[in-house]
Amino acid sequence: MVDITEMTNWGVDLIDVRKTYGRSIHALRGVNIQVGRGEIFGLLGPNGAGKSTLVKIMMTVVRPTHALGTILGRPIGHHGKLARTGYLPENHRFPGYLTGNQVLHHFAALAHVPGAVRKKNAGRLLDRLGMTKWADTRVSKYSKGMLQRLGIAQALMNAPELVVLDEPTDGLDPMGRRDVRELLVELKESGTTVFLNSHLLSELEMVCDRVSILIDGLVARQGRLADLTDQTVEYRISYTGNAAAVRGKLVALGATVDEGEAILAGCEADKVNHAIDLIRAAGLMIDSVIPKRVSLEDILAEALADRSGSADAAPVARPVSP
Ligand SMILES: Nc1ncnc2c1ncn2[C@@H]1O[C@H](COP(=O)(O)OP(=O)(O)OP(=O)(O)O)[C@@H](O)[C@H]1O
Ligand SMILES: [Mg+2]
Repeated sequence: MVDITEMTNWGVDLIDVRKTYGRSIHALRGVNIQVGRGEIFGLLGPNGAGKSTLVKIMMTVVRPTHALGTILGRPIGHHGKLARTGYLPENHRFPGYLTGNQVLHHFAALAHVPGAVRKKNAGRLLDRLGMTKWADTRVSKYSKGMLQRLGIAQALMNAPELVVLDEPTDGLDPMGRRDVRELLVELKESGTTVFLNSHLLSELEMVCDRVSILIDGLVARQGRLADLTDQTVEYRISYTGNAAAVRGKLVALGATVDEGEAILAGCEADKVNHAIDLIRAAGLMIDSVIPKRVSLEDILAEALADRSGSADAAPVARPVSP
């Protein structure tokens, strides 16, 4: 039995979402995902993992085989809450004969945004996405990156409480990506909940509060990004000089010694200090000591390795509160 009072604490609370296409394509096999209000959440996973299927179910574009849970505290598909949600679909297509400005008005009108608000928001968003000078150009003339910027503006026209973005930085150049990351942080700061799909791990790492790794339709890892990545895996000590005299002692400490650097796995500070002492005592100059932290890529690689080793992963437990 699901506790209704607890459900409303989450911006997104998906419980046991399943989708089978046809008879045999099990795109989602019992997904539980929770996103706190005002968080930036990243759903990552390899191609075909089921990420887009999940957001399509959230947006009622695809009918689930089974789904429980809430969006903005109301059951999935609640009309009032859908109107308070913005959505950037994967591979979106806009009618080529419309201008950028007309596209924004058209989709906002479908979401019942009043005319005066549409006008104000369209101007503000076109400006924010760097599209003002293309506002009256037909979409058929837009580049891929321009279409993506327009798509993001479109998703924000109703000043949503929740915005769901399927690969928002797809087709954008590095500056465009950075701009979108800054925009996501601005949205969060204004209280908007951001749910995004991406396979660009380093991008997610820069902005997300919480992430889930989806593999073969199941959540393989889930948690606060800080908790998942808060671990130092190795220290890299760089030095100038010939380490021949001290190599044996460093290797005995467990270090891998290459030309100009010693790498110590694990995060035992006393070992790192000892290695630094040894290097300095041998008359070498320390250039840098760099801790390498666990990255999302490491976590994804580990999750993929686990999945290939077992036929079925256990469902990930549902956290108690945001
Ligand atoms: N309309 C459909 N009919 C049949 N199978 C589908 C349909 N849409 C998706 N699938 C299948 O469901 C699975 C999940 O697809 P989905 O598009 O959700 O993955 P994804 O994680 O978004 O992948 P990508 O990173 O490539 O965008 C895949 O095996 C895909 O082939
Ligand atoms: Mg997808």
